[in-house]
Amino acid sequence: MDKALSGVRILDFTHVQSGPTCTQLLAWFGADVIKVERPGEGDATRGQLRDIPGVDSLYFTMLNHNKRSVTLNAKTPRGKQVLESLIRHCDVLVENFAPGAMERMGLSWEHIHKLNPRMIVGSVKGFGPGRYEDCKVYENVAQCAGGAASTTGFDDGPPVVSGAQIGDSGTGLHLALGIVTALYQRTHSGRGQKVLAPMQDAVLNLCRVKLRDQQRLERTHVLHEYPQYPDGRFGDAVPRAGNASGGGQPGWILRCKGWETDPNAYIYFITQAAVWPAVCRVIGEEGWIDDEAYATPQARLLHLKPIFARIEQWTMSKTKFEAMEILNEYDIPCGPILSMKEIAEDPWLRKSGTVVEVDHPSRGRHLTVGNPIKLSDSPTEVTRAPLLGEHTEQVLKELGYGDKDVELLRSEGAI
Ligand code: COA
Repeated sequence: MDKALSGVRILDFTHVQSGPTCTQLLAWFGADVIKVERPGEGDATRGQLRDIPGVDSLYFTMLNHNKRSVTLNAKTPRGKQVLESLIRHCDVLVENFAPGAMERMGLSWEHIHKLNPRMIVGSVKGFGPGRYEDCKVYENVAQCAGGAASTTGFDDGPPVVSGAQIGDSGTGLHLALGIVTALYQRTHSGRGQKVLAPMQDAVLNLCRVKLRDQQRLERTHVLHEYPQYPDGRFGDAVPRAGNASGGGQPGWILRCKGWETDPNAYIYFITQAAVWPAVCRVIGEEGWIDDEAYATPQARLLHLKPIFARIEQWTMSKTKFEAMEILNEYDIPCGPILSMKEIAEDPWLRKSGTVVEVDHPSRGRHLTVGNPIKLSDSPTEVTRAPLLGEHTEQVLKELGYGDKDVELLRSEGAI
């Protein structure tokens, strides 16, 4: 019992990204995650975006670390029997099938609860109850329906979806929290329960500052920290804010030395009120410290564009890393725009275990993500994703199936 979730058995009936993110987190925390996949094909992501012919894709391997893989056709009578044994054997079932798919497999909540009253059933769906509850949903649909797309991008352009997979991985994270919370409640209630994380709701939860701004806009008709202020007109919905800071401290992305050829030679610069005098000194505008047009945060809101244009003259004379070093000396909050190449090579992210290398029988040694959540008493050791059906026999034996049973299941196409 050396890991936080040692002893917890997860029946992982997830596919694609949202559900697998959740179960991967639980596996990183030490749960025994048994991924159930269709014989022959497995999780569709095994074959998607492949970079090496015939080898499980990075899409799959990055979402399924530390798991075991069992192949099982849940639509055959014997496959269903095995699945029901797994339901009795496990603590949690996680699924993210299209609405109604579990019921079509004969696995309603009532049936699962009858088989194992302690089982927690965690589900990702695109939408919660309502007009879209029967819809199939992928990442970008959730970003659009959850308020992220309408508030991302520039005001003179179309809605934009983020590269951060807040709909899939974001929802998986929400579901994982719901599951461990339900596991905790079970320690005193003794009962399982349903845990639902709709993707629209998870994205909205992550976009809550925009719902805050919607109400501020309705009350005051203006959002002072948005780039549309003071020149532009506001409509009746929160506009796209470009790179404006979501909080009360104005910020913007500024060009750095080399921007003409390097698409990531930029820095995020925040003009935090507490360090305003330091900002003025660094850029050589000491006069702004006492000038009443710039001296207070309120006054500065009227001049954010010229202020950032002046700061940018300074940042353009430095690389993003040089600017970071100087600004950090003054406690000025800022951040380099890091490319994925820079992140992949970052020695500190590797040291912390957030970016790791693992071996894989057919892919070889490769780079992948590690657990971003660090528990001091339950350190994560990332192990590679399983091959399709790699643990079918091992798990069946743990369930009490003998060699002959396994052969029969195989001959009937159930595993
Ligand atoms: N044995 C037998 N059948 C299996 C099986 C197994 N081991 N595993 C899956 N299946 C079946 C399911 O029962 C389902 O059959 P049905 O359509 O006859 O009911 C079918 O495979 C596939 O399920 P479905 O979820 O509809 O897959 P899809 O590829 O058509 O849709 C999504 C993919 C992601 C759009 C859909 O699953 C979805 O909307 N999920 C919820 C939201 C979500 O998680 N989206 C984000 C994904 S990253």
